[in-house]
Amino acid sequence: MNQKNSEKLWKLPLYKIYTDDEDVNLITKIIKRGSNWAIGPEIDEFENAISDYVGVDYSAVLNSGTSALHASLLAFGLGDGDEILVPSFSFISTANSVLFVNATPSFVDIEEETLGIDPKLIEQSISSNTKAIIPMDYGGMSCQISEIKENAENNNLLVIEDGAESLGSSVKGKKVGSISDATIFSFCGNKVLTTGEGGAVVTNSREIIEKIKLIRSHGRLDQKNYFNNPSSAQYLGLGYNWRMSSITAGLGISQLNKLEKIIKMRQENAEYLSSRLSKLPKIKVPTAPAGYEHIYQMYTIRLPDKTTRDSLHDFLTERQIFSKVYFTPIHNTSFYQQKFGINKNLLPITEKISQQVLTLPLYPNMTAEEKDLLVETICEFFESQ
Ligand SMILES: Cc1ncc(COP(=O)(O)O)c(C=O)c1O
Repeated sequence: MNQKNSEKLWKLPLYKIYTDDEDVNLITKIIKRGSNWAIGPEIDEFENAISDYVGVDYSAVLNSGTSALHASLLAFGLGDGDEILVPSFSFISTANSVLFVNATPSFVDIEEETLGIDPKLIEQSISSNTKAIIPMDYGGMSCQISEIKENAENNNLLVIEDGAESLGSSVKGKKVGSISDATIFSFCGNKVLTTGEGGAVVTNSREIIEKIKLIRSHGRLDQKNYFNNPSSAQYLGLGYNWRMSSITAGLGISQLNKLEKIIKMRQENAEYLSSRLSKLPKIKVPTAPAGYEHIYQMYTIRLPDKTTRDSLHDFLTERQIFSKVYFTPIHNTSFYQQKFGINKNLLPITEKISQQVLTLPLYPNMTAEEKDLLVETICEFFESQ
């Protein structure tokens, strides 16, 4: 069996996608029409639905969260010689996007409440070349975005938020994506709203969204479907092909229609797991500070130390229960160590948290038996210690 697709080996996978007949019917309709599989009406429709949902003026969909991040940095004109503040406790593309535009990532430590960039550390991390900050919303909950935005504004920094994991979460009623200068989302297979692969940018700036739409499609003014339009197109600048297909956008529309239902199912499952796991003294279950809504893209517990964390991880793997460490800090990857040789003592909270975290299985249709199997296996681990 192909190890890459060995889901069947797991009694409990890390995640499972929630899908229904609406997904199948919408995609089938697009396939059967036999036209406009690229740049079809679903692109605008999905974009309008995303911006309405988040509560912003504009949205652009792309083929991944990474291209959404890359396109955003290009659209804001960030590049050569610029320094951009990023967390190291994130997926590697947060920092890679900075390298894509020849800018320099400068890592800032996180705080322990939301595991996002610590707003109090921004000021001291700024140099005369610092132009922007990319805060990340970890695992389905916002970082301290209002405080970060305020500090950034005081220091003339752009805020391009990496909300890849957190579409649907909110702080004090404001959805992730509605506060920063621009925010990106990912629709990759393990996200709460997924289209397999895909991404989006949301912003209130018309200028930025227009630039992003040019960048994602060869610098071409795609006002009409290029493939159906007999006249020649205008190319206004350098661009890529980072477009999302109409079929993918159709799936996105149908997934967005049920996003609130999916979130509720995840929250109920997370609450059940937390009600039981919080009784174990060595486990810190995920919690949301007052005013924050957690949508549990990941259900990540914290253990007292790396030894306990790694032993539990091994114990669960042996029992065919999928758990995973999100994240090993970006600055500790061999690529970043070779390129920058970053001093490990610079990010003490990032180092500490990354040794404590373990993400456990959680998905909308998790059965009562599956949740109990997870909890009881973890109890068994602590009894065996
Ligand atoms: C925090 C974060 N940023 C960026 C990305 C990149 O998104 P994508 O995989 O869609 O390119 C991801 C997705 O895994 C992510 O978790």
